[in-house]
Amino acid sequence: MRISILTVSDRCSRGEKEDKSGPLIKEIFGKTAEILCLKTVPDEKEEIKKALIEMSDFLHSDVVFTTGGTGFAPRDVTPEATKEVIEKEVPGIPEAVRAESLKITPRAVLSRAAAGIRGKTLIINLPGSPKAVKESLDVITPALPHAVETLSGATLSCGRE
Ligand code: MTE
Repeated sequence: MRISILTVSDRCSRGEKEDKSGPLIKEIFGKTAEILCLKTVPDEKEEIKKALIEMSDFLHSDVVFTTGGTGFAPRDVTPEATKEVIEKEVPGIPEAVRAESLKITPRAVLSRAAAGIRGKTLIINLPGSPKAVKESLDVITPALPHAVETLSGATLSCGRE
């Protein structure tokens, strides 16, 4: 599995705050996946879109994780940028993450995270805090190998060998 990671944060992009979530995703998948790219951009829709397109179309990532910019802050636009570059929405992923996260914190409903497919790349928004990243990945990770296999065309149907 080839993974790219995009941290979306004004403060991290200006060097005012250390990015802990991007490196955490890298650490979680470091042994089981190839990390192609770890990049930080500010909360600017066009910059987010450009990075997502690069990671999908040029790096040929199987999965792109974004972290941050999914909440209610005026500059939070990660889901909007994501929805403008995906071709198919995958609502089940953020639905499951919010449902499971709600068992941990009532604030889980404040994540507007989206997920979807661009070409053969699955793009998944995660919230910004390392704690939320870890909790969200616990929900998503078991389904990822099958998602990537199906997207690549290796599996033609589910439930049949
Ligand atoms: N999901 C999980 N699993 N754990 C959390 O701590 N925090 C929530 C939510 N989702 C949280 C979570 C909070 S407080 C916010 S504001 C939203 O994610 C959006 O986060 P973001 O703006 O950093 O993307």
